[in-house]
Amino acid sequence: MNIRSKIIGTGSYLPSRTVFNKDLEDLLNTTDEWIQQRTGITKRHWASKDETTSDLALRASERALESSSLKKEDIDLLLVATVTPDHEFPGTACFLQGKMGIPGVPAIDVRQQCGGFIFALSIADQYIRTGTYKNILIVCSELHSRCLDLTPRGRNLSVIFGDGAGAVVLQATEVKDRESESHILSTKIHSDGAQAKELWCPGPGLALFGEERMTKEMINDGLQYPQMNGRAIFSHAVRTMSESLIESLTSNGKELKDLELAFFHQANRRISEAIGKNLELDDSLIHSTVEIYGNTTSATIPIGLDDAIRNGKLKQGMLISNVAFGSGFTWGHSLIRY
Ligand code: UT7
Repeated sequence: MNIRSKIIGTGSYLPSRTVFNKDLEDLLNTTDEWIQQRTGITKRHWASKDETTSDLALRASERALESSSLKKEDIDLLLVATVTPDHEFPGTACFLQGKMGIPGVPAIDVRQQCGGFIFALSIADQYIRTGTYKNILIVCSELHSRCLDLTPRGRNLSVIFGDGAGAVVLQATEVKDRESESHILSTKIHSDGAQAKELWCPGPGLALFGEERMTKEMINDGLQYPQMNGRAIFSHAVRTMSESLIESLTSNGKELKDLELAFFHQANRRISEAIGKNLELDDSLIHSTVEIYGNTTSATIPIGLDDAIRNGKLKQGMLISNVAFGSGFTWGHSLIRY
């Protein structure tokens, strides 16, 4: 039997508060013009004080389940990707599971930052191909707004991130015709831990070698905030996502001309534009949401998929490539006949 995974539902949730670039000007000593020119971002969403990462995840999960026509009880594996967990432990998947009310189902956190969706999809796909699980819920949820340095010190990073969640429901399917039937053709994931500190959040952390994981001095030094070598990340992102897109096609005997839509991790519109230019892709092939949602880390691709489906841009039977790059470094692809 040729068992493969297919996407049977998607959902997303963006918190109701919209934060425009203008709203950040005084706070971060930045300008709307700088943010738009360097990133393409015009606005992003921020969660309210009483929302958590697992709350955003719950809303996106409910919408994905509704569009799949499955009940929550049908789910037999729950994977949650986040870089902004509710707590240090247990994982956010456990908190989401408690809120969903599906005890007994394995709930696993995937800690692969912007690569989180591709890594989670890859894990889920292996479980489905081996026949271990039939219906898997993947949720990517990020609440950056309460984790950022919202002072001029953090402006390079704080202007690009937004809050939001995206979810997909995968189901096992027997594929007879690989050219026409909906399924995931392949996933491939990569990491390079030697570059871990190019984009990272040092604290709280045992490897800071203080008497505790977090001290007042560490807080004064801002070690609880993410730190990024923006220019290095930018060039790695362009190179690895270009290579991953080509890898997604060639490893399946396909060419660029076969591609019908591409979803890049949405960190900065200039990154997507540079990939498009490298590969001579028509703009219409790249689905972009960074302008209105900012960088929602692991959630950017599932939010983009849901957006494209609900807007009628992504239709059944289309060949799509998803590629991501992020902290770790982690990167990879999935090629899908939607
Ligand atoms: O999702 C995870 C992966 N993350 C990414 O892929 C992000 C990749 N990196 C980027 O998108 C870009 O590097 C940034 C948007 C973060 C920064 O853009 P940049 O063009 O690389 O700027 P830069 O950090 O090299 O800074 C250039 C100048 C500096 O001023 P000087 O030294 O030239 O006078 C910064 O101080 O821009 C200044 N600057 C800002 N000015 C106004 C940095 N951030 C800001 C800001 N507003 N928000």
